[in-house]
Amino acid sequence: MRKKVKVVEIGPRDGFQNVKEFIPTETKLKIIDGVISAGYSKVQITSFVSPKAIPQMKDAKEVTERVLAKYDGVDFFALVPNFYGANSAVEAGLQEITPVISLSESHNMNNVKRTVDQSIEELKKIRQTFPDIKITQDIATVFGCPFEGEMSVDSLLELIGKLREIGIHAFTLCDTVGMAYPTLVEKVFRTVKKEFPEDEFNVHIHDTRNMGILNSYVALENGADSVQAAIGGLGGCPFAPGATGNTSSEDLVYMLNKCGCDTGIDFDRLLATAKYAKSVIDGNFSGHQINIPEKPCVITQE
Ligand code: COA
Ligand code: ZN
Repeated sequence: MRKKVKVVEIGPRDGFQNVKEFIPTETKLKIIDGVISAGYSKVQITSFVSPKAIPQMKDAKEVTERVLAKYDGVDFFALVPNFYGANSAVEAGLQEITPVISLSESHNMNNVKRTVDQSIEELKKIRQTFPDIKITQDIATVFGCPFEGEMSVDSLLELIGKLREIGIHAFTLCDTVGMAYPTLVEKVFRTVKKEFPEDEFNVHIHDTRNMGILNSYVALENGADSVQAAIGGLGGCPFAPGATGNTSSEDLVYMLNKCGCDTGIDFDRLLATAKYAKSVIDGNFSGHQINIPEKPCVITQE
């Protein structure tokens, strides 16, 4: 087990995007406050997407501006699907953005209505227009696509190669619909770390098949630079059939902390925030810790 691991909270984006009923901005901000008070140093706070595609994210500008005005010393970033979104995120003050491109053509088309090549062209424009902004590129469906099945590692290397050519050197490898399994995660991380040792590779896993913690662990053991998770195990891409929640942050942090790994995160505060979220959001909280009854079972004897 590594001595130190960077856990990144993505619930306010991946978690909230799959919640149908609009979550009031104040509630979103309270949850972001909660995860920061638990000790997080990096949070994905929203996405700058079309409000027609994901109405839940229509308050991206307000969330960003209010969070940036309140906190120093925490890294905030947002997902962007196109140039429009990147421009809005930068205008709102963000220093880091996460454009998203899928490894599979069909998911890219379903998600952002572009071919992979069109998305790369748009990314080139984003890179050139904002040379000082950190770009951490999400690559979706790395470990499997709901339309095309398992993806090849060679196709991943080819895509990363194209992205590096336009100046991208930080990536998050995403298991969009939770099709990853430990030996595949091991193979992918070993390969990319060997091919591109200087680049940053983060991991983003969905817990669809109850392998979220294990896959995250395997990625970390094979060199992942950070691991993403969402409070309560919320999450899922609305444009990927069968998508379910991310690895739950509390479950992941509990495991890492118990194993003596320094996450810098206070588990109790994190769990309290997740429970608060569950009490006010009508969503699919698929984490384990969050569903443990408040009072332990008592065995009564006659
Ligand atoms: N933020 C806000 N509005 C946006 C936008 C953005 N990033 N990108 C486009 N729009 C608006 C346009 O202004 C336009 O508005 P109008 O109809 O009022 O004129 C409308 O959306 C359509 O614009 P267009 O360029 O044709 O986009 P599109 O229809 O091709 O939509 C996406 C493509 C990518 C913008 C849209 O599908 C999207 O935001 N998807 C979200 C993907 C996502 O978040 N997936 C989950 C995370 S992986
Ligand atoms: Zn996701």
